[in-house]
Amino acid sequence: MGAIVLVGTQWGDEGKGKATDLLADDVDFVVRYQGGNNAGHTIIVDDVTLKLPLVPSGVMYPSVTPVIGDGVVLDPGVLLEELDELVAQGLDVSDLRISGNAHLIMPYHRELDAVTERYLGRQKLGTTKRGIGPTYADKASRVGLRVQDLYDMKIFRQKLDTVLKEKNAILSRVYNRMPMKAADIETEYAVYAERLRPYITDTVTLLHDALEDGKTILLEGAQGTLLDLDHGTYPFVTSSNPVAGGAMTGAGLGPKHVERVIGVTKAYITRVGTGPFPTELSGDIAERIIDVGKEYGTTTGRQRRVGWFDAVLARYAARVNGLTEHFLTKLDVLGEFETLRVCRAYRYQGEEYEHFPPHQSIFHHAEPVYEEHPGWRSDLSEARRFKDLPKQAQAYVERLEELSGVPIRYVSVGPARSQTLERG
Ligand code: GDP
Ligand code: IMO
Ligand code: MG
Repeated sequence: MGAIVLVGTQWGDEGKGKATDLLADDVDFVVRYQGGNNAGHTIIVDDVTLKLPLVPSGVMYPSVTPVIGDGVVLDPGVLLEELDELVAQGLDVSDLRISGNAHLIMPYHRELDAVTERYLGRQKLGTTKRGIGPTYADKASRVGLRVQDLYDMKIFRQKLDTVLKEKNAILSRVYNRMPMKAADIETEYAVYAERLRPYITDTVTLLHDALEDGKTILLEGAQGTLLDLDHGTYPFVTSSNPVAGGAMTGAGLGPKHVERVIGVTKAYITRVGTGPFPTELSGDIAERIIDVGKEYGTTTGRQRRVGWFDAVLARYAARVNGLTEHFLTKLDVLGEFETLRVCRAYRYQGEEYEHFPPHQSIFHHAEPVYEEHPGWRSDLSEARRFKDLPKQAQAYVERLEELSGVPIRYVSVGPARSQTLERG
């Protein structure tokens, strides 16, 4: 009963899809509250692998209603393709519910995402080029189009004409691109409108009625804490709020509805795209982790950057999300190493920082202070109880727990649902 928030504690790809999958049996709704098809959640059930850029992971379970909340930015063409693929795989998607307040990603948003990245050159962010940043920027500038605008084409066209005038001027005069035609966009989006119609719902009322009926809601974050627009490594972030607070605005719930806040955390750390990364590894160790952990982006296929576990960031994530517990993933990936390192603090100009530094320059130049832990040099993927793990692996988990200050309730040792150890 009540709401559970599930949030990535690092730079995304922590295994949120797998964690949702495990919890889905006990919930009635799974709600995506922010982001768009920049996300890529992988779920493996009974040998079937599903990659979900936008549809909430709950779509796989007949007993779960998947919801796309107000805080999401939605590319209707991409969503419909994703739904078609899910249907082709035999899933029933008719329960999906979409908020009319979600903002629409428009063709000019995708184009602007691509050209501004090119324009930034070496300063680029390495975005997913899905139009996420430009869509949220228009939302904040109050010139965005929302899903509900699709159901009054007169208003849709009026708003489109106004905003497209400015976008076309920018596209053609600043970036030397072809202007876009409002009539073409209108025709394309009118088709989407009809196909999406059955899913559009007042999701805030739906969720509150559900809570009053004693139902359980899982609020599933995309991205991660360090990609948060306010609390992440700005400007190398996404344009929404993945932190637990974002789940409140993005779904229309209040803090009193939340009973648990679960942080999904990798046993090491990864990042896609540019930006500072104190514990980043290169060379043989990095290659082994990328290889064993299959560290390639779900939506973009880009190789992820990898690094040792960073307890400074884990402590920070525990605080800004108000975590009640961790879901630790990918412990099995570290099975080859003689010694493992964990960053317990940063050093900068002779000073030690145990907490996330207050100035970006400190973080950019932070030197990790490492402690070393003996590895276990064995395969953990068959373990089913925490006490079955080698004692070095147990000690590693216990140390991460101590350093982050939040209990590690689940330990994942492989992508499958059965490869999860729940601790008392
Ligand atoms: P998300 O974006 O947070 O949902 O994570 P992704 O799906 O992008 O990336 C996590 C990847 O790790 C997926 O391919 C998962 O199947 C996989 N995975 C999740 N947990 C584990 C684990 O404990 N061990 C291993 N080896 N793989 C895992
Ligand atoms: P999931 O939900 C990892 C990164 C991009 C880029 C930055 C901004 O699978 O964890 P954007 O397109 O959002 O404007 O790009 O954010 N990024 C992610 N990295 N996992 C994700 O999602 C990401 N979504 C965006 O690589 O650095
Ligand atoms: Mg991902």
